[in-house]
Amino acid sequence: MRVVLLGSGRGSNAEAILKAQGEGRLGRAQVVAIFTDKPDAPMLALGPRFGVPAQFVDPRRSRPSSRAPARSATSPPSAPCAPDLVVLAGFMRVLKPGFLDAFAGRIINLHPSLLPSFPGLDGIGQAFRHGVKITGCTVHEVNAAVDGGRILDQEAVRIEEADTVETLAARIHVAEHRLLPAVIARLSGA
Ligand code: GAR
Repeated sequence: MRVVLLGSGRGSNAEAILKAQGEGRLGRAQVVAIFTDKPDAPMLALGPRFGVPAQFVDPRRSRPSSRAPARSATSPPSAPCAPDLVVLAGFMRVLKPGFLDAFAGRIINLHPSLLPSFPGLDGIGQAFRHGVKITGCTVHEVNAAVDGGRILDQEAVRIEEADTVETLAARIHVAEHRLLPAVIARLSGA
């Protein structure tokens, strides 16, 4: 199963996926490319570290994927990559309909809350400010509704009295680093 990773920032989840692959915990999945929509995303450094092509694609130059898939920011070059699965690992952009059509049923997203609670931006801060006692992370299929696709798996994280947004975020990231590689392995048929 050929996997393409899309992200916008730090890339700790992409790193967890690549580490899982190196340790034989990614089933039949293999990461074939990494794309970011930010030219300075630290995630790009994972490419040379793990021997995977990593590339910034300028979203301002994106085009509908059906017409020019190799040039669209939100469309990984489908010919060279031929992804079976597109994984949004900290990708902070809403995908365009052309992209959704091109990879229908083959895109999954990681979100830092227990959906359907706290969708959209800053899922961790939203849960913290709301005062819930349990939050977590979700991996779900991507459709046209933001954070609205079928839920594939979740992991719960308790919010402790002493937590700050930062300490909570750190524990949610630890949970994410377990959850996302495990879902990818499962989807690969392992
Ligand atoms: C993760 O916490 C992920 O759940 C979140 O961005 C972070 C990326 O961290 N994604 C979203 O909020 C998507 N709406 P990373 O770059 O270290 O993997």
